[in-house]
Amino acid sequence: MKICVIGSGYVGLVAGTCFAESGNTVICVDVNQEKIEGLKEGILPIYEPGLKELVLRNSSEGRLFFSTDLASAVKESLICFIAVGTPPGEDGSADLQHVIAVAREIGRNMDGFKIIVDKSTVPVGTAEKVRRATQEELDRRGVSHEFDVVSNPEFLKEGAAIDDFMKPDRVVIGADNVRTAEIMKELYSPFMRKTNRLIVMDVKSAEMTKYAANAMLATRISFMNQIANLCERMGADVAAVREGIGSDSRIGYDFLFPGVGYGGSCFPKDVKALIKTADECNYDFVLLNAVEEVNERQKKVLVDKMVAHFSPGGGAGSLAGKTIAVWGLSFKPRTDDMREAPSIVIIESLLELGATVRAHDPEAVKEAKKIFGDRITYTSTNQYEILNGADALAIITEWNEYRNPDFERIGASLSAPVIFDGRNLYNPRRMRDIGFTYHSIGRNG
Ligand code: NAD
Ligand code: UGA
Repeated sequence: MKICVIGSGYVGLVAGTCFAESGNTVICVDVNQEKIEGLKEGILPIYEPGLKELVLRNSSEGRLFFSTDLASAVKESLICFIAVGTPPGEDGSADLQHVIAVAREIGRNMDGFKIIVDKSTVPVGTAEKVRRATQEELDRRGVSHEFDVVSNPEFLKEGAAIDDFMKPDRVVIGADNVRTAEIMKELYSPFMRKTNRLIVMDVKSAEMTKYAANAMLATRISFMNQIANLCERMGADVAAVREGIGSDSRIGYDFLFPGVGYGGSCFPKDVKALIKTADECNYDFVLLNAVEEVNERQKKVLVDKMVAHFSPGGGAGSLAGKTIAVWGLSFKPRTDDMREAPSIVIIESLLELGATVRAHDPEAVKEAKKIFGDRITYTSTNQYEILNGADALAIITEWNEYRNPDFERIGASLSAPVIFDGRNLYNPRRMRDIGFTYHSIGRNG
């Protein structure tokens, strides 16, 4: 099939590349000329494991193209995916300006039957807005072409995006037209197996499914963060509790890891957008408001532990003169994405309290510099160097290289062996045995 994917960010680039990998001819379009020129040369704008190899192979085999020319891409394609950003507006609602701008461009350029697919995460009712915007442009041109608007939300996770796309748990297609649904099924058939499902539903339910999924996952995390905080106060161990509840097949083990709060470009934005959607229907989504509030508080828990350790009285300047070495800046491992990373809130708080911060991250330093500038120091190579003479190590993101480190070297490098672990990477008893003061989340360690 001939496809164009408009918006070549995390989702557009991964989706376009994976569709090319399954034999389709794909044009990835973006307004960002630098991004497109880079992609033509094999330079990727993001770090996503496995993506570069697939981009290079599919480009060289003539199935994957990059362009800023949306008009030609639309004319050459049967299916036009919209995969542009839907950032939060000032009031928390999803800002649809890019989505609607693309819908208009498609209307200005279509020359025959097209399937327009909303891949971006968009509120219920957006497909209808896309349809109207496209139709208005056709009317302006005085031409008549048939088209369908489909909702096909994306569920991939950064850091595991290729696997998630190629072997999805499920594919959701919201389509009101049977013929179009069949074409979408054919497009996704290479990714379907006995163990996953392609679910066809009405457009509005598909749009809602995406928000409900992210909101449910965010709810599990906030719930578990509160259980962890309670475990600490009661002397229980949240890791054991997670095992205990996860073994119930109705609950499962995933997305029950307590930590420093959820971040990223999606959970925070999508929870806010769903709250806003509910507001617009005069419905008070009490639960989601709490999920968000718990998450904001959780981002402060590690800093509270540092203040309690170094300066139990707290207050302004309570970490003055202290140097904190930070491992991990990105919002999760295996990505360089810093959007809504909990490290931002944690490091800003440390700086505000007077601490000096040195940070290590294998991939996110370039992005982090755009946020912290020269207010902190960085390294992406030797994770131990930043420990020399520091007062404590704080772990914010669970990159693999932090999981089994050289504790002797850590202890010898720090001015005192103190670790604040926001990701529960180590065993509290072992840490005590080897002489560390070890603070983690929900484990009395
Ligand atoms: P992104 O910011 O990485 O990429 C968006 C791209 O769209 C940018 O390169 C931008 O230049 C381009 N763009 C903007 N306006 C354009 C236009 N008029 N024409 C062509 N290109 C244009 O965003 P992302 O993370 O890929 O997210 C895209 C959408 O997918 C969002 O709605 C997001 O919620 C959703 N989503 C993201 C993820 C994820 O893991 N990042 C997962 C599932 C769903
Ligand atoms: C999330 C969803 O998992 C994807 O299904 C969805 O497609 C995507 O959002 C989206 O809509 O963009 P992503 O944000 O890439 O994917 O990463 P996650 O692995 O979900 O992690 C999100 C945040 O939650 C991270 O900050 C992570 O550290 C945190 N988290 C995750 C926890 O604190 N505990 C957990 O148990 C799991």
